[in-house]
Amino acid sequence: MYNIAIDGPAGAGKSTIAKQIAKRKGYIYVDTGAMYRAMALFLIESHVSPEETEKISEKCLEADISIVYEKGEQVVLLNGRNVNGLIRTEQVSNMASASSVNGHVRKKLVELQQKLAEKADVVMDGRDIGTCVLPNADLKIYLTASSEVRAKRRYDEMIARGEKCDIDVIKRDIEERDYRDMHRDISPLKQAEDAVLVDSSDMTIEEVIEKIMGMCRI
Ligand code: DC
Repeated sequence: MYNIAIDGPAGAGKSTIAKQIAKRKGYIYVDTGAMYRAMALFLIESHVSPEETEKISEKCLEADISIVYEKGEQVVLLNGRNVNGLIRTEQVSNMASASSVNGHVRKKLVELQQKLAEKADVVMDGRDIGTCVLPNADLKIYLTASSEVRAKRRYDEMIARGEKCDIDVIKRDIEERDYRDMHRDISPLKQAEDAVLVDSSDMTIEEVIEKIMGMCRI
């Protein structure tokens, strides 16, 4: 199996790039953030709050999370139910951020991610793929961009959707999230020693894709 790991901070363009690479190579794209989001939805529906650490550890064992593919798109199933349309809310983002620090949650989802990569050629994106989930991945990319550029990209997306927003608030949120992801005890976000650093601040999406495609050995 050929496994490509793409890690990096929020808003660096990981999912856009990973999806395109998977499509061009004919590999499966695995969005691990969506699994943490599905787990967060389960916890919210189970009336667990982000501060209830013990309850999160217990409850997470009851969630059956799996991935299927429909028309080339990843669909996340939570206890057999398609939850793709429910996991991109602010409430789920906050719960995912809080519950992804929990060792029991991580153990369960990392095992699932490792099983997927054993069975198929994958492009997997997340925060700990190169360092923890797939330490032997064939290619590891650490994709980043300055917080100014990431904030500007998010701002442009929101404006295009007709939403009101403040670029300074977006930048502050991004920096807070970076800090949380990089300083948690278990599997913090960091560049694996053997990962290639790609800074997309001054690159187009196509340039980043070309650069990574050029590094794939098969
Ligand atoms: O990439 P995303 O925004 O969909 O991720 C949702 C949350 O899950 C985010 O707070 C970071 C966390 N996450 C993680 O801890 N490890 C991963 N491999 C992927 C996501």
